[in-house]
Amino acid sequence: MGKFIYDGVVTGEFFCERPVEIGRLVSYIDDSTNVLLFAKRRMGKTSLVQEVFENHIDKSRFITIYADIYDITDECDLARELYRAIASSLKADLRSLVKILKDYFHRVSFDISLGQDGTPSFSPKLSTVDHEVLLSDVFEGLSNYLIKHNLKAAFCIDEFQQIKTINKPLDATIRKHIQKHHNVSYIFTGSKRNMLSLLFKGEKSPLMGMVTPMELGPIELEIFFDFAHKQIPQLTCSIFETLYQSALSETKLVQHFLRNCANAEVLKLGEIENTVLVEVEAIARPIFEAMSPNNKKAIKILVGHNKSGGLMSKEILAKYNISKSSLKSSLDQLINNDIVYLDNGTYQLDGGIGASFAFWASKRLS
Ligand SMILES: Nc1ncnc2c1ncn2[C@@H]1O[C@H](COP(=O)(O)OP(=O)(O)OP(=O)(O)O)[C@@H](O)[C@H]1O
Ligand SMILES: [Mg+2]
Repeated sequence: MGKFIYDGVVTGEFFCERPVEIGRLVSYIDDSTNVLLFAKRRMGKTSLVQEVFENHIDKSRFITIYADIYDITDECDLARELYRAIASSLKADLRSLVKILKDYFHRVSFDISLGQDGTPSFSPKLSTVDHEVLLSDVFEGLSNYLIKHNLKAAFCIDEFQQIKTINKPLDATIRKHIQKHHNVSYIFTGSKRNMLSLLFKGEKSPLMGMVTPMELGPIELEIFFDFAHKQIPQLTCSIFETLYQSALSETKLVQHFLRNCANAEVLKLGEIENTVLVEVEAIARPIFEAMSPNNKKAIKILVGHNKSGGLMSKEILAKYNISKSSLKSSLDQLINNDIVYLDNGTYQLDGGIGASFAFWASKRLS
C-alpha cells in the first residue's frame, strides 16, 4: 500500500519529484547565491531544502546546514540553534569533531551526547549574551572552517521570520556577516510569508537586496498524479483532479487526500473529502473559535465573497452587521498575521495552517 505522508518533512522515496525547482536550488547553492525561498503554507519549502541537502548535493565539496529557529525566544536561542546546526552538519569522528569545534568557535562549548545509533547531539553553552559577538563567532567560525578545508556550504535558516520577534537588530548583524562570505549559500525560508517578505523588502530593511527570491509553486498536476497513481492504481485522473482543486493545489492537503485514497477499499470522492474534513475539523475550528467577533465576520464574508472588489458593498456590510472601517481593519490584521493573504486581488484563507483551513471554512462556514 502506498505511503503518503501529510505531516512533517518528506524526502527520498516519499518526495514527489520537483526537477525544475531542485535544479534551480542546486545551481544557486553551487554559485553560493543567497536565496529567499517563499511560498504559500505547506507547499513543500522545508521538504525541498531537505531533499536537495540529502540527495542532490556533492558532499565531498559541500557541507549542508539546516537550522529551524521557530522556537527562539531571544538572541541566545538563535545563536545556540545556529551553533547546534553547524556542529550537527560536520562529518567527523567524535574526537576530531570536538577539536574542530574548539578551534573554530570561541564563544561556546558543547555538551555532546550520543544517540543509540551513535549519532551525536549537541547542546551549546554560550560564554556571552552579546548577540554581535555570538553571531560574529558563528558566521566567521564557519567561514574560516570552510576556507581551511576548501569546502563550500549551503546554510538554510528555516522559519527565519522569527528573528523579527526579537527586539534586537539581528537582521543588520546577519547582513554584516553574510555579505562577506562567498563560499556559503544562505537559504532563508519560513512559514509566515508576509512577515518573511517584510524582512527583505523596503529601503530600511538591512537585508534588502541580499537575496535572490525563489517562489515555490504547487507540484504540477500531471507529475503529482503519476506519483500518486503508481501507488494507488485505482485512482483516476478525474478524481485526482477534483481533489487537487479542493486542496487548492497545496501539497500537504493533496497528500492528506491521497492518504485516505490509499486507505479506502473503493474510491468514493465524497467519502474521501468527508473523512479529511472531519480530521481537519479538530485543528481548524479552534482557530476560528479563538478569533474576535469581527475577525470571524471577516472570515465568513471571505468564504462567500472573496473577490476584493465587492467585499465592502452596502449589502454585505448590512448582512453581516459590520462597518466598513471595522471590516477593513479586521482584514488588515488578518493579513498581517498571515491568517489571510491576497492572491492576484483575491483574498484567500490560510488560518495559519494553509489550505486545510480554507477547505474546512468553505464546507462549514458557507
Ligand atoms: N515534494 C513533495 N512530495 C510529496 N509531498 C510533499 C512534498 N513537499 C511537501 N509535501 C507534503 O507537504 C507537507 C508540508 O511540507 P513542508 O513542511 O515541506 O512544507 P512547508 O512549505 O515547509 O510548510 P510550512 O509552511 O508549514 O513551513 C509534507 O508533510 C508533505 O505531506
Ligand atoms: Mg516549512
